[in-house]
Formats: sequence, C-alpha cells, structure tokens
Amino acid sequence: MTKPLIEATDLIRIYELRHGLFGRSTPIRAVDGISISVMPGETLGIVGESGSGKSTLGRMLLGIDPIQGGGVTFDGAPMPRLGTPEWRALRARMQLVYQDPLAALDKRLPISEQIGEPLEIHKLLSKDERAARVAELMTAVGLRPDQAGRFPHELSGGQRQRAVIARALASRPDLLVCDEPVAALDVSIQAQVVNVLRDLQESHGIAMVFISHDLKVVRNIADRVAVMYLGHIVEEATSDVIFANPRHPYTRALVSSVPVPGQKLEGRLVLQGEPPNPADRPSGCAFHPRCPIASDVCRVSRPQLSEIAPGRNAACHMVSPQSVSMAA
Ligand SMILES: Nc1ncnc2c1ncn2[C@@H]1O[C@H](COP(=O)(O)OP(=O)(O)OP(=O)(O)O)[C@@H](O)[C@H]1O
Ligand SMILES: [Mg+2]
Repeated sequence: MTKPLIEATDLIRIYELRHGLFGRSTPIRAVDGISISVMPGETLGIVGESGSGKSTLGRMLLGIDPIQGGGVTFDGAPMPRLGTPEWRALRARMQLVYQDPLAALDKRLPISEQIGEPLEIHKLLSKDERAARVAELMTAVGLRPDQAGRFPHELSGGQRQRAVIARALASRPDLLVCDEPVAALDVSIQAQVVNVLRDLQESHGIAMVFISHDLKVVRNIADRVAVMYLGHIVEEATSDVIFANPRHPYTRALVSSVPVPGQKLEGRLVLQGEPPNPADRPSGCAFHPRCPIASDVCRVSRPQLSEIAPGRNAACHMVSPQSVSMAA
C-alpha cells in the first residue's frame, strides 16, 4: 500500500494573545489537535472561516511554524527543525504558494531570475539547463517567453501568481501547500490560475494542500476536503461526498451557501450568531452556539473526530453512523 507523503499527528499550536504591555495573556489554540495525511499526488482541500487556523496548519506542515505538540512526518521521516541543513534540503521537495504574489516576489529582479532561484539555491542543474528549465516552467504555467525579462510590477496579478507557481515548481517538489492562492485575484482570473494548478496536478503528479475559504474553488481542485472550525477538523471526506452530502451542521451551512447555477437559494442554511472568537472558545463543541441542532451534550462535551462511514470522519454528537445510513 502507498504510504502518505505527509502525515501530521495531533498537531498543536497555541499563540499567546497579550492584553496591553504588561497585561495577562490569553492562549489562542490556533491548531488544536489536528491529524491529517496527504498521499502522493493527492490534493487535500482545507476550508473554514477566517481565523480557523488554516494558515497556521499549512505552515506547520512545512515545518515553518514551530510544533508545540504532535508531529509531522514527510516521506516517512520526522520533519527536521526549521533552519537546519536537513530542513533546507527538504524545502526543495515542499513549497509554499500564498495569497499575495507581489509580496512573494522581489521587486528588483526579472521574473525569469526569480523562477530559476530555487534551482540555484538547491544547486540543481547547470546554468544552461537552468535557462531551459525556466522556459519550460513558464510555458507550463501559461507565461510567454517574452515575459521572462519583466519585473513583477510589469505583470498582472494573475501573471504574477503564475510566476510564483512556476518558481514553486522549479525544484520539482512532491508537495505544494497553496494558502489562498487565488483569493487576491479577480474572479475571472481565479479560474485560470486554478486550471493551471489542476493541469500541474495531472502532468507533474504533485500532492497539494489547498487552503481556501472559498468552497467553489476547493470543489474544483480537491480530491479530499477537511473542514476546520476553531483549530479543529470537524469533517473530512472526499470532495464528492462533502459537497453532495455534508453531515456536520457547520459543513452543511458552508456547502449550502455556495450558489449552484440554475438553483434557487431557497432552503439554504444560514450560519447563525457571531463568527467564533478563538480567544473565547465556547465550552463543549465549539460550534454549539451557532448550531441549529445542538443539544445539552454539545454544550458540555467536545465531540471527537471519528469515522461515521468508511473514509468519512465527523466530530459531531448529533451525527451517528445510524443517521448516515438512514440518510444514504
Ligand atoms: N502570530 C500570531 N500571533 C497571535 N495570534 C495569531 C498569530 N497568527 C495567527 N494567530 C491567531 O491564530 C488563529 C488562526 O490564525 P490563522 O491565520 O491560522 O487562520 P486562517 O484560518 O488562516 O484565517 P484566514 O482565513 O483569515 O487566513 C487566529 O485566531 C489568529 O488571530
Ligand atoms: Mg490564512
């Protein structure tokens, strides 16, 4: 059986939120006991509202954010500590693409140089081979050869993100963590960049962790989806299953808020109450104050993520294996 490319077990990351200069601090459990794995070539979508811990989780998977509890293995070996030569060597195999391409690029360098940078850093290929590889990467992401000498400000937002993706691919990584890679782009351009990533999945067989609060985008690209709420995974299943038959009330509300062309929005579930405050986590199930089906047990006891059907996990007291089989 194939082994996961990346596997995280019981990850914990707590930030201390300080009140004033000398005030006491409140712990924010940004990632609170998360276990996930991604198989080679697989795309795992991570969705959830702002502040649910998606970016923190993404950085922890790459060893960029310190791990305060639990662990990450990459290709079967423990993730080396940030900044060590072992970690730097591994960075060639795992790359990050985030929201703001302008911030990710150096204003003073033409994009072709920046795309080739990882080849230089990791001492891959000769100079001539590098130039050929940069040209190949630019074509793969849909940039024209004549754009090679352009500086980041001479490109559109979509073109810049293509350049960032090309750079991330230069070292032929096994894993790409994309953190809201299209959120800053116009809707029409978003689809083009998502298509570039989809093509790359097929042509390069790269595994991806695709973080987004936009379910429409995730539906297009992810094989499997993990739904986060206040530092926990509340539901996890294949993309088809999550979108066709969400079980957790939070997932149901998220999915029902995605417009389907030609269908009225009647009957959709609207999330009630305030968005969650991580500094003041509700007792029991953190979702219970906004949950339409919460009962007494939800207020006092935190539901664990457990298998409710083959390949499908949910953390909800009100979703039992019986109710799934009845609904199926
Ligand atoms: N450096 C930090 N110091 C203190 N708290 C932080 C820090 N970074 C993140 N947090 C807090 O941790 C929680 C999770 O943040 P994170 O950025 O991972 O969420 P997210 O799901 O990526 O949100 P978004 O969709 O807005 O990008 C939030 O409550 C955030 O305020
Ligand atoms: Mg984020």
